[in-house]
Formats: sequence, C-alpha cells, structure tokens
Amino acid sequence: MSSSPTFKAGLEDVVALTSEICFIDGTEGRLLYRGYSIEELAQRATFEEVAFLLWHGRLPSRDELTALRRRLGEDRALPPGVVDLLRRFPPQADTMDVLRTAVSSLALFDPEAEQMSPELNVRRAEQLTARFGTIVATWHRLRQGLEPVAPDPELDTASDFLRMLFGQRPDPSMAKVLDTCLILHADHELNASTFAARVTAGTLADMYAALTSAVAALKGPLHGGANEAVMKMVLEIGEVDKAEAWVLKALSEKRRIMGFGHRVYKNGDPRAAILRRLSEEVGRRVGNLRYYEISRRIEEVVGREKPGLYPNVDFYAASTYYALGIPIDLYTPIFAVSRVSGWTAHILEQYANNRLIRPRAEYTGPTGLTYLPVDAR
Ligand code: CMC
Repeated sequence: MSSSPTFKAGLEDVVALTSEICFIDGTEGRLLYRGYSIEELAQRATFEEVAFLLWHGRLPSRDELTALRRRLGEDRALPPGVVDLLRRFPPQADTMDVLRTAVSSLALFDPEAEQMSPELNVRRAEQLTARFGTIVATWHRLRQGLEPVAPDPELDTASDFLRMLFGQRPDPSMAKVLDTCLILHADHELNASTFAARVTAGTLADMYAALTSAVAALKGPLHGGANEAVMKMVLEIGEVDKAEAWVLKALSEKRRIMGFGHRVYKNGDPRAAILRRLSEEVGRRVGNLRYYEISRRIEEVVGREKPGLYPNVDFYAASTYYALGIPIDLYTPIFAVSRVSGWTAHILEQYANNRLIRPRAEYTGPTGLTYLPVDAR
C-alpha cells in the first residue's frame, strides 16, 4: 500500500535506497568506505585498493591488487576512435563537456555494451575507471596542439595520469598527493551525481549511459564544479590581507562562498581536514604557501561570520591541485577521474538489487481547464 507523497525540497534527508558502500555521519563528521574510515584509507591505502574495496566490499589480497593494477594499466589505452573524436573537438571546449561526450562515445566502441552480466559489468567498471584519466590527459594534450602521451601500464593511476598530462614522470611525492586526493573523492554516498547514475542504472540502461548521467550532474558549481570556482576566488583575492574584505563583501551581497557548506555535514567535512594538511604540505614542498594561506584566512573569516559554515571537500582540493601545477579547468574532471570508482560501485549495487527509481511530484499547477481551439484563445 502506498502512503500519500510528502514533499522534501531537494530530497533533503530523504532515504531513497539502502547501500553497503559508503556511510556518512553528518553530525559527527564521519565518513566510511565499506566500513573503513576515510582518515585511515587516506593515510594507508592506494587509490587502486580503494577502488577494489568499493567494487567488492573488501580489501584486495596482494595478488588481487597486483592483478588489478595490471588490468587497470592495460585498460588505460583509449579506443583509437575515441582519440579521433577528441581531435575533432574545438580546443576551447569545456573539459567536462568533452569528458561527458567521450564517456558516452565509449559505448559505441564496446560491441558488448548491451550485455549486462555481473562479471562483464565489473570488468567494465575497471575499464571505465582506467580510461577516465586517459580521456582528460589526452584532451589536455590535444587542445594544446600536442600529441597524446600513451599510457604506461606499469604505473599506478595517479602517477600515469600526471605523466600523460605533463609528458614526464612525476615526482613520486607529488603523485602520492594526487593518489590521496583520488582516495578522498572516490565515493560519497548518494550525492547528486551518484544519484543520477543510479537513477539511470535503475532503468537497466547500461553502465556507459549511467556514467554519462553522472558526469553531467557533477559539472554544476553546486557539486563538483565548486573546486574550480574556489581556485578562481582564491586567485582573485590574490593576497592574504585581502581575504577578509573579499569575504565580508561577498557575504553582504548574499553570494555563496564556493567550497563551503554541505547538505549532510553540519559540523565539518572530514575530507576537508585532510585536504587542508595536504594543501599545506604540497605548498611547502613547491615553496609557495600563498594560496594555502589565503584559503586558511577565508576559512577563518567565514567561520567567524557564519558559524556552522565549514569548508567541504572542494575547498582545499583547489589549492592542492594548483600547487601540483594542474590547470584549473581540470579540477572537476579530476574529481570524475576518482569518483568513477564510486559511481561504478553504486551502479553495480543498483543492478544487483534493482528497482526502478521513480519518485513523485507534488502537483502545484491548475486543474479543470477547458481546451480552447487555437483561434479562440
Ligand atoms: N556560502 C554562503 N552561505 C551558504 C553557503 C555558502 N557556500 N552554503 C550554504 N549557505 C547558507 C545558505 O545561504 C542558507 O542560509 P539561509 O538559511 O540563511 O538562507 C543555509 O546556509 C543553508 O543552505 P542551503 O542552500 O539550503 O543548503 P543545501 O544543503 O541546499 O546546499 C550546498 C548545500 C553544498 C549546495 C551549499 O552549501 C552551497 O551552495 N555551497 C557552495 C557550493 C559548493 O561548495 N559545493 C560543493 C558541495 S560538496 C562537494 C561536492 O558535492 O562537490
């Protein structure tokens, strides 16, 4: 028997499904992937271990991890048709639009795209997770008029991404910083893009379709797009001493401070605390703490003026990526390079126990109108 629908703006606090993948305690600021705390995973695991954990619900054995790393390395190469497609896009195209289109096009090069066995879908999850980074790096090379750098299957995801992006092997400590960022962004329960992925998967559309929905949803500035907006704000402020006045003006104009606030965390986002430390660490390493320090000052002023408004994952990710030398318009795509592991885990979970996701709307329009022929209106 269905109860009468009640409306919750933005589905706030609505429990739409059950999941074993990710646990968030928004009051205590706790985040677990498959039971493991984000702090411990960020400190001790690698992105590949976390991806395995998200897909399979347990950490891999040494042999399983070695095999997964090898498969991911081999899967990284793109079908030539997708590279041809990337060559045709205008160089000024938005990278999230490019990523969304390229991900969608991958279906065209998978002759088994319509086949949906669980084994095939797990392999597809690995393949897609491997390929997101290659799409972003290949695109970045092509738009500069450079030839793409072929993947090196021997390298881990973070190191090879930086290598394909910049054309040379990264400093291992910098690759480790990116690896930690990938872990921190890998999953986050029923955020907008994951929900979009599960809604699409819930119609039994294939994984490419579900991921195309997810990339589309991630783009917006209220979701993944916030990290790029944060860096633009930090650069616009430019100096620590200007941060206070900038924030006060923005708040007085009722503008949102990007990288702050969260639908679920009401006492702080545990990922932001880890990223704050990473931003400082990497800033120190490259000998430029300016953007970390501006970010700290913004956080102090926002916290003083708007108690209860804390930085989220996007805030310190921005100055961290900047110190790694990553172009600003790749920050949201890098979020996707990581989150594809969580999206695919959720898609697999959706397929395994599927029910069409189809909520109701509370109708607020008129009723009882009478149709008039067009010349009588
Ligand atoms: N700056 C200033 N005020 C804010 C902010 C902000 N960033 N975020 C929330 N508020 C205020 C908002 O004005 C409202 O105040 P009042 O009740 O006086 O009108 C109150 O806090 C509640 O805001 P809300 O919009 O109802 O909260 P929400 O749960 O619908 O929105 C949010 C969550 C993340 C969209 C929002 O906090 C926001 O727009 N933040 C900035 C964008 C951002 O950083 N997004 C990244 C989200 S986390 C990672 C990710 O998903 O990518």
